[in-house]
Formats: sequence, C-alpha cells, structure tokens
Amino acid sequence: MPGLRGPSDYSQEPPRHSSLKVNSKEPFNAEPHRAALLSYITPIDFFYKRNHGPIPVVDDIERYNVSIGGLVEKPLEISMFEIRRLPKYNVVATLQCAGNRRTEMSKARTVKGVGWDVSAIGNAIWGGAKLADVLELVGISKYSSFSAPGGKHVEFVSIDKCKEENGGPYKASISLRQAANPEADVLLAYEMNGEILSRDHGYPLRVIVPGVIGARSVKWLDHINIIEDECQGFFMQKDYKMFPPSVNWDNINWLTRKAQMDFPVQCAICSLEDVDVVNQVKATIAGYAVSGGGRGIERVDISVDGGKTWLEAERYQRRNIPYQSDDMNNDKWAWVLFKATVDIPENAVIIAKAVDTAANVQPEKVDAIWNLRGILNTSWHKVQVRRASPGMNSNL
Ligand code: MTE
Repeated sequence: MPGLRGPSDYSQEPPRHSSLKVNSKEPFNAEPHRAALLSYITPIDFFYKRNHGPIPVVDDIERYNVSIGGLVEKPLEISMFEIRRLPKYNVVATLQCAGNRRTEMSKARTVKGVGWDVSAIGNAIWGGAKLADVLELVGISKYSSFSAPGGKHVEFVSIDKCKEENGGPYKASISLRQAANPEADVLLAYEMNGEILSRDHGYPLRVIVPGVIGARSVKWLDHINIIEDECQGFFMQKDYKMFPPSVNWDNINWLTRKAQMDFPVQCAICSLEDVDVVNQVKATIAGYAVSGGGRGIERVDISVDGGKTWLEAERYQRRNIPYQSDDMNNDKWAWVLFKATVDIPENAVIIAKAVDTAANVQPEKVDAIWNLRGILNTSWHKVQVRRASPGMNSNL
C-alpha cells in the first residue's frame, strides 16, 4: 500500500500513557485502571489498546488510499482526501474486546489468550464516513444484501503483520447487508473523540462496527474486498468463536461455530476493586453497562448481600439526563454508566447485573459460559468489600 506500511518488529511503537496496565508488551495490549472508565467518553490515552502485531507507520498520507474490489461492478481506489469529502458522521459507540474479563474466566478454569480485567472496553465518539456511502461509489445500493456480481460479505484487510496469519495482515468481514445499511452506522473512521485517530487506534483509517465485538473493527485499513463467503482469515475462522463448556483443545472443530458478531449484555463495577475496603457505611457503586446489536440497557440491578436482595441503579449517558433505553435521543451504540449509593455491610459481596431491552440478563456464574478461548465473560460482576473499622488504613 502506498504511504502506509506494516513493520516487522516493535522498534517504531508509539508512546503510551504510563498508567496503563500492560497485559502483553509485544504485541502491545493494555487497559486502563477501571476507575478511568467512569467518564462517559473514554479519553484516548485511557482507551484499551488491542493489537496482534507491530503498529503500522504512515510514511506519506498524500499517497494513502483504500482500494475496493472483488465482486463489484466499479472497483475503486479512494484517497483520504476523497473519504473526508463524503458526509461526515459522529457516532458514539462502545468498542469492547471479546476477551474483556478473561482473567476472571480463567480463574474458573484455564483459558487461552491475553488476560484482561474489566477494562478491555471504552466508549468514544468516532468520526468518519459511512461505509454505506462508500459502497455506493462502487455500485452497491443502500439496504442491499448482495452486490450485482454476487458478493454477500465485506472484507476489511489491514497492513499489520500478525503471527497468527503467518506474518500476513489482520482481516475480518461483516455481512454486506449490515455494511450497506446506513442505520447500522458502520464507519470508516478517521477521528476519535474529535481528534485525528492515533496510531494505536488505527491511523489513518479504521472500521468501526457498532454493537459488534471489537475484533471486526479493523484498524489501519488497506483494502476492502466484496466476497461471496465470509473472510477466511484466522481471526474469523479460528478465533473469536464462542464454544460450549464441553469443548476442549482435543475435540475442538472450528467449523461447527459461527464467527462471533454482536456482543451480549455486559456490566462491571468500576468504583471498587475486586477485593476492596471502604471507609464509610454509605458508598457509591458505579460502573458501565452495555449490550450489543444496538440494544439499550433497560436496568442495572445491584446487590450488597451476595444476590439475596436487589435494588435498581440510576443510569445515565450525559450527566443529569436520566437514561431511557427507548428514547430516540440516546446513543444506542454506546454504554450507559450506572450508580447507586448503598449502605455497605461489614463484609459484603456486591454484585452488578444488567438487563438489556430484549430482557437478556447476564448469567450468574462464569462456569455456564466458560469457553476455551475465554471470550464474552458476561457473568455477574462481583466485588468483595470490607468496611474499615475506625482508624484503619484503606485504599478508598
Ligand atoms: N485491526 C488490526 N489491523 N489489527 C488488530 O490487531 N485488533 C482487533 C481490532 N482491530 C486488531 C484490529 C481487536 S481484537 C480489537 S478488540 C480492536 O481492534 C481494538 O481496538 P483498539 O486497540 O482501538 O481499542
């Protein structure tokens, strides 16, 4: 690709915030402290970084372009300048790695993959062109499910060198039906929180597929292929699939499962560590809740007695505006924050569980959804809290 290249070593990595918790250095995988997630828009520095190879380098943005080919009538090479001239949309969307909360799942039974606490997730304002508008330029009408020559999937190919792809680029696909639907808000994004995308997050151009696991939001976009069957890349076929608890590395058959797309309902407490001490009797329990596929959050329930009794938390997106999941003005692809002020018993197991607008509820126990790749741990989030006796040191 002219102007953009994928290095084969880690000597040209960008600078990163020193407070990030680094889960793997090369490739760089890191998440913020969970308290950093308590603002509606996650600052770029504290947005988790999930990579499978060295970060690509832009040598010459003037020469950078994206080629769109495959099963289309009018193949195209489109420059950054031309993409920026298309109508610009700002979409507030939560990006969540399928591996979020994997460390906790691995405690139940070991799983394979980079460990993540509760912060492989963030909410940003993504600015860019709608993929549906771009596809029109190659002859694919809005709301269509296939291209005239028979393409049914849209594949995004990057430039980074990933060992899982034997040194080839990261790639993924979504259905053409989703890609060509302007209401699905799939973006070719060049901005994040009003700033030009940073290298870590996909500069100069990335895909954002709202409501879908982060793995399909391909960074450092190089080309787009319109294809008949879904992308055959490693991350679509041999990773990011949800298997039942009975499947292990001896009996796994990757063909039996579909590539994971939408993520299920999720929430986590971010105002407390998993084991924590509080000073006062009253404490505020706060965190995020989100569901995939554009489903809103209907409710977040909090328990301070290990699940015997529950109370409903307050939810909001913008401060001082109560969140209503069916409100036209809510950011439907974005998380909601929740909070509840509660009396803390001396020794408490505090639990948060969310319910989405389709009445899907998080499962109680991780064992029920355990899977060997450790994806989509959406079990009830529990923290253990002790109330400090007067005079005792605490970390809150
Ligand atoms: N795109 C490329 N080219 N290479 C990658 O390694 N990782 C994917 C996705 N897009 C990845 C990629 C995964 S698994 C996730 S969760 C998101 O990017 C993370 O995006 P972020 O680093 O901007 O948070």
